[in-house]
Amino acid sequence: MASQREQWNSRTGFILATVGSAVGLGNVWRFPTVVVQSGGGAFVLLFLAIVLVIGVPAIIVELTLGRRSQKNILGTFLILAPGTKWWVAGLFSLVAVFVILSFYSVIAGWAAIYFVGSLLGIFSGLETEGLTLLFGEIAGHGFLSLLAQGIFMLATIIIVSTGITGGIERWSKFLMPGIIVILFMLLGRTLLLEGALEGVLWFLTPDLSQINLDVALSAVGQVFFSFSLGMGAILTYGSYLSPRENIPQSAILIGFADVAIALLMGLIIIPALFVFNVQPEVGPGIIFVTLPAIFNTIPGSMVWSALFFLMLTFAALTSAVSLLEVGVAYFMDARKWSRRAATVLLGSLIFLIGVPSNLSQGIWSNVLIFGRDFLDLMDFTASSILLPLGGFFTVIFLAWIWGTENALKELNKGASTFMWGSGWAFLVKYIIPVAILYIFVSGML
Ligand code: PFF
Repeated sequence: MASQREQWNSRTGFILATVGSAVGLGNVWRFPTVVVQSGGGAFVLLFLAIVLVIGVPAIIVELTLGRRSQKNILGTFLILAPGTKWWVAGLFSLVAVFVILSFYSVIAGWAAIYFVGSLLGIFSGLETEGLTLLFGEIAGHGFLSLLAQGIFMLATIIIVSTGITGGIERWSKFLMPGIIVILFMLLGRTLLLEGALEGVLWFLTPDLSQINLDVALSAVGQVFFSFSLGMGAILTYGSYLSPRENIPQSAILIGFADVAIALLMGLIIIPALFVFNVQPEVGPGIIFVTLPAIFNTIPGSMVWSALFFLMLTFAALTSAVSLLEVGVAYFMDARKWSRRAATVLLGSLIFLIGVPSNLSQGIWSNVLIFGRDFLDLMDFTASSILLPLGGFFTVIFLAWIWGTENALKELNKGASTFMWGSGWAFLVKYIIPVAILYIFVSGML
């Protein structure tokens, strides 16, 4: 008989850990970056619409499947549809884990370098131009950047190997509130800068002519990435849930927290881009130029900036942990590996896969594949292809194979009856699959 499956110690612990998975580089780094690339307010509007119609209902889908199966991402399909080939859908998600974590750890490594750099005062007094150059040097400095990526992966391995429900639950309780305090402080500072209003307007005013299927596809990709959907992270966390949990309520809370932090970040970064005249061509580094520029206008900038980058590193860590956990849970459940062996092996492999992404920001920056450098290519493959497809199959599976009736039965085990059950079932059966498929196919063409 298999040993007893881990369970969250408390409801707060579960919520914080799941919010911890959702909130990370996706909100702080990726959201503002994609907004800039995709034309501002119009993207934000689409993003919000997709959150409501696809994002939050899909969180409910994954949590329900996970809690019902009490299994990993592949096991869920095997147990709820035995004898079928549906487990192949889980494979998408498993591949996405490797792809995402490999480049995620590169950027998280930069955040860690910026933490140490702030303490050493290397940004003090620099203006946009100097900060841009410095970012190029740090990201392109093969050794330093690889070292930081390695240390970040090691930290992820250590946390996951000690078990998810204890370690992560405890850390998340301190980190999430801390991040929010600093974000509000930064918001106040940016909005008071001269010329900030122009950026705020650009961020909040949708120019509908900017909306097209490419933008829609990046918005879907961003929602999946930011909500940790489409790759089994939320499903795996759901598998450690007790039947008493009120899933719809938790899903709303998780979605709300994630969106709030993304919007807050947009309101901090975008106006600052205008004020400090940071060129969007800086690409994935915009936050690493903009944020130190804002900090430099605040007395005691070193301390604030160190605190911020420390928290960003931790926010990335709580997300990375949930990613690695998806793979580890599978090898533990299905292959009977020990938690420690699974963690060390997968973690090391992911580090190696991340090396080209890391070098692509320096010595390999000239190597372009389909017009993208390697890091960008990994991000695009995961966010615009693997996650939407993983999400599509998971939703189809719940709606049409396992059945919304079964799902609603499972959902109603929670603290109270799911009021919008039939509305949710309708979305899951018809609207979400058609929307994802339409956007995906046309966005790809
Ligand atoms: N949601 C995380 C973020 O926004 O940073 C990234 C992530 C974590 C994506 C876990 C996917 C995942 F399974």
